[in-house]
Amino acid sequence: MAHVSDLIATDIEQYLKVHERKSLLRFITCGSVDDGKSTLIGRLLYDSKMIFEDQMTALENDSKKVGTQGGEIDFALLVDGLAAEREQGITIDVAYRFFSTEKRKFIVADTPGHEQYTRNMVTGASTAQVAVILIDARKGVLTQTRRHSYLVSLIGIRKVVLAINKMDLVDYDQATFERILADYKAFAARIGLADIAAIPLSALKGVNMLARAEETPWYQGPSLMEYLETVEVEDEARKAPFRLPVQWVNRPNLDFRGFSGQIAAGEIRPGDAVRVQPSGRASTVARIVTQDRDLEVAVAGQSITLTLADEIDISRGDVISRTDGPASVADQFEATLVWMSDGAMLPGRPYLMKLGTKVVTASITEPKYKVNVNTLEHLAAKKLDLNEIGIVNVATDQPVAFDPYKENTTTGGFILIDRISNATVGAGMLHFALRRSDNVHWQAVDVAKDQRADLKGQKPAILWFTGLSGAGKSTIANMVEKKLYARGRHTYLLDGDNVRHGLNKDLGFTDADRVENIRRVAEVSKLMVDAGLIVLVSFISPFRSERRMARELVKAGEFFEVFVDTPLAVAEARDVKGLYKKAREGKLKNFTGIDSPYEAPEDPEIHLQAADLAVETAADAIIAHLEGAGVI
Ligand code: ADX
Repeated sequence: MAHVSDLIATDIEQYLKVHERKSLLRFITCGSVDDGKSTLIGRLLYDSKMIFEDQMTALENDSKKVGTQGGEIDFALLVDGLAAEREQGITIDVAYRFFSTEKRKFIVADTPGHEQYTRNMVTGASTAQVAVILIDARKGVLTQTRRHSYLVSLIGIRKVVLAINKMDLVDYDQATFERILADYKAFAARIGLADIAAIPLSALKGVNMLARAEETPWYQGPSLMEYLETVEVEDEARKAPFRLPVQWVNRPNLDFRGFSGQIAAGEIRPGDAVRVQPSGRASTVARIVTQDRDLEVAVAGQSITLTLADEIDISRGDVISRTDGPASVADQFEATLVWMSDGAMLPGRPYLMKLGTKVVTASITEPKYKVNVNTLEHLAAKKLDLNEIGIVNVATDQPVAFDPYKENTTTGGFILIDRISNATVGAGMLHFALRRSDNVHWQAVDVAKDQRADLKGQKPAILWFTGLSGAGKSTIANMVEKKLYARGRHTYLLDGDNVRHGLNKDLGFTDADRVENIRRVAEVSKLMVDAGLIVLVSFISPFRSERRMARELVKAGEFFEVFVDTPLAVAEARDVKGLYKKAREGKLKNFTGIDSPYEAPEDPEIHLQAADLAVETAADAIIAHLEGAGVI
């Protein structure tokens, strides 16, 4: 059977063209199949005649086959999409559907009610202006209602339709309706949702769906369709201060240099004074260029190319603001973070952060707490797992232009991307800049790295040894240090076991603690390079992300990853410290290679098949490599 949801890409374009003159409302429906959500959407689509003939026939046949409620058409079948989902009785993922009436056109994001799918809901709701929250009149406000409402408020949707459905099953009882509404309002007030329209419905029977129904003479408000057709969604983006996140610099020839992107907020005219952020450089708008012609004014939502009166440096990711209302600039923030990946969020791990059109490296410096989405309770958190929501501090590796999410969802909303897999792992909303990002300055010093290194007559470097426990990292590092010392080099050896007795004695062996362990050691080795030393670092350092972070802290050519590649079987057979035995017996948890992963380097500078090498030979190979690279 074909589905309305299959009509996306090309049809939507054509469809939107035909209906161009009508206003567009984007809304999201929240609830579960049990609440009659699919029936409700199905009926909206059916009654607006956005179903094509062949689909109707298929639907009627399907309904007969499945044998639903009294031979009526089962609208849920139209919406539930994949057959597998229908079998499971749950709807997964987000489906966008399009329909229109005489007055308006609509895009509805249909997201599942199932607990695990916070991720989908956040995705589906991110552009919605209205949320329709379904309630089964027999059940009232449920845990899932609270969860959906919390997410809706988090995403910044301000208008809620409380669709109290299945009123036919409670005899259209006004008292039931009022009680549910009062319950809901009490909860909604706590999360800042104030604009609530409650409608008594029977989606199945079509009561108060299109027109006000006789069954509820006590209800004076609009039908669902009337509400959706008339609800005012003022264009808040248009009233907000002007923001153009630069998508690309358009330079077809030497005479033209324009900055292209979609206006995220506000409006702009030629002659307006602008500031480019984060750099702070100022200019005025010369022209607003579009494909067809130059504009006298451009507003939020339009894609334009600006040219400026002055030649100033602007690159992709910069934000152009009007001087009378610039964005803020900072590199540390408080934010709400929704985690969307099977692998946990680990504080200190570098992720890519995409904020508007800007991509920077960012890490979570401190999870403050996570929120139980069902009860709104705050819980202590060291990390975030899939679908968890936390309030965190975030640090970026460079200052970025931003607005609080509440004021601008484009310049205040971000996603986090894993640097190794390139998958989107989190979505967040910036609250505010942390004061300390303004207050902590970089202190300039007069004696610099090069001078300190010159005095020692050497080039500083990091030799980063990675490999399993018992691979031989420390033994080889020790031998290399002796050889460097013999040549009069200034060195220092940072060894995992030793550092864990001091600087890192508060850390254990969970993934989160290992990330922090390596982050600190990487920072310390960076300081030692700055001091002009050749630093030997010998840690298991099992994760690619953190080894890459260490590498990026120093200049290219200063970092040498030494993979001490000893097979697990060999390291385990040696078992110098007796730890493998304990791990196998289950007495030692999270042991690398046993029940904690080791991600082998993909492209190390030096790769030692250490099981077959004498320590001396391995050390000589490293010394030879350093000579070849011009370090010694
Ligand atoms: S890392 O993974 O965070 O880089 P690190 O190199 O500091 O580890 O410490 C590893 C050393 O701690 C091992 O050589 C071993 O002696 C000891 N150790 C104790 N428990 C564990 C464990 N669960 N996994 C790995 N090593 C452990």
